[in-house]
Amino acid sequence: MKRRPSTLRDGSMSTPPRHRTVVVPRRVFGKTAAMTDASATVSSVAVSTARAVPKSATAIGFAVATKGPVPRGLGVGRGGLEANGFEGKPGQTLSVPTADGVVVAVGVGDPGTIDAAGLRSAAAAFARVASKHAHLATNLADVDGVDATAAGQAVAEGVLLASYRYTGLKNEPANASRLDALTLVAGAKSSKGVARGAERGRAVASAAAFARELANTPPAHLNARDIAAKAVDIGSAAGLHVEVFNKDQLEQMGCGGLLGVNRGSTEPPRMVKLTWSPKNPTGHLALVGKGIMYDSGGISLKPSDHFHQNMKMDMSGAAAVLATMSALRELKVKTKVTAWLMCTDNMPSGSALKLGDVLTMRNGKTVEIHNTDAEGRLVLADGLSLAVEEQPDAIVDIATLTGAALAALGQQIAPVLGTNQALVDQLVERSEATDEPIWQLPLSAGRYRKLLDSVVADMKNIGGPYAGTMTASIFLSEFVGDVPWAHLDIAGPMMVDADDGIYAKGATGFGTRLLIDLASNFTPPA
Ligand code: BES
Ligand code: MN
Ligand code: ZN
Repeated sequence: MKRRPSTLRDGSMSTPPRHRTVVVPRRVFGKTAAMTDASATVSSVAVSTARAVPKSATAIGFAVATKGPVPRGLGVGRGGLEANGFEGKPGQTLSVPTADGVVVAVGVGDPGTIDAAGLRSAAAAFARVASKHAHLATNLADVDGVDATAAGQAVAEGVLLASYRYTGLKNEPANASRLDALTLVAGAKSSKGVARGAERGRAVASAAAFARELANTPPAHLNARDIAAKAVDIGSAAGLHVEVFNKDQLEQMGCGGLLGVNRGSTEPPRMVKLTWSPKNPTGHLALVGKGIMYDSGGISLKPSDHFHQNMKMDMSGAAAVLATMSALRELKVKTKVTAWLMCTDNMPSGSALKLGDVLTMRNGKTVEIHNTDAEGRLVLADGLSLAVEEQPDAIVDIATLTGAALAALGQQIAPVLGTNQALVDQLVERSEATDEPIWQLPLSAGRYRKLLDSVVADMKNIGGPYAGTMTASIFLSEFVGDVPWAHLDIAGPMMVDADDGIYAKGATGFGTRLLIDLASNFTPPA
């Protein structure tokens, strides 16, 4: 019998609840469900090294070059591969179904020419075509021409990163990864190195997945208090010293930038300081991350939904820094690393920052607000000032700072600017090693500093219509004192618009692998 809907007092219709099974979606119960522990998911994949393909592997990827012998395990010769359009080009794949799984020819290009980045991409391509399988095996890390450790790391990263999906808010996540084991098949000579690299790759990929998870999480599910709580959890698990600063403490500390940006928000701000202190450190690196949990632009409201849409990811810098910190113990990093996450929303309201307001930053400098959407530099100013006070050997900040960075270098390359060439060179070197591409832009403070001149304060928070990435960086340079400093503007590569190689549509975690590699190989600049 059909039940008649009744009308509730507020005018809405409701079916009487008797005899009805009510399925309450889990999201109603709380917001923690939105953040799965992606790093745990990725790091729970059992990564191993073996001399032969294990029986339990149902998808097997074989490296195939453009010339030379074709692995027998494929069951197809060169002629059969070519007849199906497979030439062995880097990252090309051809799947051959078997009785209980699949074997995949994975192109590695001309013999001996592939590098670690090529292997990472090839491994990602293999993981994509084998995404229905739980146990993958591949001999990709045993390829000629790449050092065994670097190869093991690249292949593990490629497979694990390509398998990451954000599933926290789907009731039936059809796109969730099924991967639970990966075996890297390698010969006697390379197996030790491959195993060592694979272990590193698993740790690095877990961190990058964690950064993606933070950035993909919607703003109401991850506000400044939430990310601070997450940092406390992660920090205690990863051997870090973690301090969280609330609004009152920030007021006492004179963090006018972070507080100014927070003024329009109903959510309180948080600053998180994390410290990794190894015994006898070989240097001291400071990291500062922009943690705008949501950037509406403030009173200078962003013009349309399109520009608003991805601004939950405006904390991608803080996410990369937190993720980096989470991996240092596992990777036995010898550098002391101190990190600051500068976290708040940027919202319009009756209490919001106004144009013409003047903020006094942590280092005492005053800033006249000309555009409340140029908020990233305001929160970073306090973070950089605090970093300087600890006299580290170098400071690197990372931020989704300017649309101009996108205009200049697009979605795949991040501008790097700084006051110390040796530090910038180190970042570029680590960028090449990790295949997270960055490109140096000039700071040119001598030419463009005057664009920030203010009549009433030490500086304005915006420059002119051009060179926005450079004027933002010149602004930041006012807060770094004499400490060697470099800035990564990741507004472009913070996300991808479609699944692509190691990336899934959404946040990329860009900068995490680069910063981990920097911390692991850091040399204090002279
Ligand atoms: N978070 C934005 C920059 C951004 C834009 C990141 C697009 C990712 C994608 C930043 O806070 C911002 O709004 N910058 C302004 C600065 C301007 C007002 C000087 C910009 O780039 O338009
Ligand atoms: Mn903004
Ligand atoms: Zn922003």
